[in-house]
Amino acid sequence: MSQKETPLFSGLVEHAKKNPVQFHIPGHKKGSGIDPEFRKFIGDNALSIDLINIGPLDDLHSPKGIIKQAQELAAEAFGADHTFFSVQGTSGAIMTMIMAVCGPGDKIIVPRNVHKSVMSAIVFSGAIPIFIHPEIDEKLGISHGITTDAVEKALEQHPDAKGVLVINPTYFGVSADLRKIVEIAHSFQVPVLVDEAHGVHIHFHDELPLSAMQAGADMAATSVHKLGGSMTQSSILNIKEGLVSPKRVQSIISMLTTTSTSYLLLASLDVARRRLVTEGKELIGETIRLAQSIRERINKIEHLYCVGPEILGRKATFDYDPTKLIISIKDLGITGYEAEKWLRETYNIEVELSDLYNLLCIITPGDTEQEGDVLIKALQDLSSVFHTESEKLHAQVVLPDIPLLALTPRDAFYADTEVVPFAESEGRIIAEFVMVYPPGIPIFIPGEIITEENLRYIQMNIEAGLPVQGPEDDQLKMIRVIKEHKAIR
Ligand SMILES: Cc1ncc(COP(=O)(O)O)c(C=O)c1O
Repeated sequence: MSQKETPLFSGLVEHAKKNPVQFHIPGHKKGSGIDPEFRKFIGDNALSIDLINIGPLDDLHSPKGIIKQAQELAAEAFGADHTFFSVQGTSGAIMTMIMAVCGPGDKIIVPRNVHKSVMSAIVFSGAIPIFIHPEIDEKLGISHGITTDAVEKALEQHPDAKGVLVINPTYFGVSADLRKIVEIAHSFQVPVLVDEAHGVHIHFHDELPLSAMQAGADMAATSVHKLGGSMTQSSILNIKEGLVSPKRVQSIISMLTTTSTSYLLLASLDVARRRLVTEGKELIGETIRLAQSIRERINKIEHLYCVGPEILGRKATFDYDPTKLIISIKDLGITGYEAEKWLRETYNIEVELSDLYNLLCIITPGDTEQEGDVLIKALQDLSSVFHTESEKLHAQVVLPDIPLLALTPRDAFYADTEVVPFAESEGRIIAEFVMVYPPGIPIFIPGEIITEENLRYIQMNIEAGLPVQGPEDDQLKMIRVIKEHKAIR
């Protein structure tokens, strides 16, 4: 089958054209039974292929027809031995990777700045995380990936680990020397699992970092929906055979997946793969050039700095994705979140994320010079407004230390717990997650000892208006900790 074909999307369209009389779910029956305003808005075409796993349309849980063909084409496109479609986002694919290699008590080597889905899978599987410190960029106030030295050290100390998980590239587009990490892990016969949420496009252009499959990794959870043009929530899980079993992966992804898989999402993966293969190189090339020109223009604006290739050359900054614009605004004397809000309210601009010190804007084939001009004008205005209003404040970048893990995340999550005031929780073992979303990186995970420094960091994020999430008490006045049993007098 050729990469120009889209067996899944075309199969759905052919089926819809036959206009069968449907006595099956979804009950809206090609839109006839749905709210008319919604139907008018999203259109009959979309509703006509909002179908379910009836005979002619195959079944994601045991693919033998058009889904199997679409997955095989995707595997060929991504240089994988097998590709599994995920309708549970990259979160579902990440949980599958971990649960495919780890059972209760098994060790997995992971960077501490992992997405919450990694920690969820660690709680579900009962695995023991062996944390590696990510490299911290104190100038920017962000975490990068992990170094080859750290991976080697971790494997020497824990050669019985069942896997090494790498985030590649990071949310900010920075990548590690993945090929070397794979070489090291494979010398211990340990598989490499890649969180490739922010790297679907890198496989399709030589000027971008190596993709997980190009670097020889064993599994990669890849968000096609983030940067590859499919619909939100649709991702893929690529695997290379050898150290992992595709049959095990199929059964685990199936355990974690709804039985009512959305064919709109699945079809969008099929067409996104075709476009990436047939036009990706050209489209991504243009995107890189556009992003470079916007970067140069941002760097001409006083008090702003947009990160470029000078970030490379450190142990964890092996390569980077220039389509990510990391804009450091700390010299303006405001937080990234305040800048984000100002851009929304003044220029109707929505950025990808902000943190205390930065804004992140992503440039994709969906952008043109016009969007670049709007961003530049807004940033020029931002710089002049805030520079005149505030004293130049060379913000001291503060990132908290990683807390000590006293219990496995699973033991802590299921332990006997109590709720105590947030401000009085220092020294206790936390039983829930605390993270800032986006990007969803935990500040605390269940089982860690609460430190004053981390409490202060959370408070700073709350005061800056950043979305701190995770605890049952979303006001963060109270926090759930492991119950302490005091001696009875
Ligand atoms: C690094 C990283 N991994 C995984 C995910 C999860 O991806 P998804 O939203 O597709 O579940 C995200 C989402 O933002 C992420 O930033």
